Amino acid sequence: MSLVEWKDEFNLGIEEVDIEHRNLVALINALHEAMLAGASRADIVEGITQIYTLVSTHFDREEAFMRETRYMAYAEHKEDHEVLLDDLREILDQVRSGGRYAEERLSDDLQYWFSEHFRTHDARLHQHAQCEERPRW
Ligand SMILES: [Fe+2]
Ligand SMILES: [Fe+2]
Repeated sequence: MSLVEWKDEFNLGIEEVDIEHRNLVALINALHEAMLAGASRADIVEGITQIYTLVSTHFDREEAFMRETRYMAYAEHKEDHEVLLDDLREILDQVRSGGRYAEERLSDDLQYWFSEHFRTHDARLHQHAQCEERPRW
C-alpha cells in the first residue's frame, strides 16, 4: 500500500504546485515501496536525495511566492519547511552512516509531515493565493 495516499483536499488549485506535490508523493511512495522490497542502502540514499532536491526546489518556489505577495503567515510556513529539510538531512546522515531506525523514522516523518503540511500550511497559502490578483507562481 502507498505510504501517502493522495487526497483531493491536497489539491491547492495552483497547477504547478499541485503537480509538484503529486510528484513528491509519487517519489515518497516509490522509496517506501523500494525499502519494503529490501532496497540497498545506496538506493535509499539516492531516493532520499531525490526527495530532498525536489522538496527544497518546491519550498523555494512557495517561499518566493509568499514573499512576493507579502503573505502574513510566511515565517511560520517557512519554519515548517526548515523543520522538514533539517529532518531529511539528519535522516540522510543516519542512513549513510548505517543508522538502524532511520528507515522507519523516514516513513513516519514523511507521511506525517506531508499530510499535515499540505492540509494546514499549504491549504492556508492556497486561500491566500486565491485572493491575489496575480495568480502567477
Ligand atoms: Fe509549504
Ligand atoms: Fe507545498
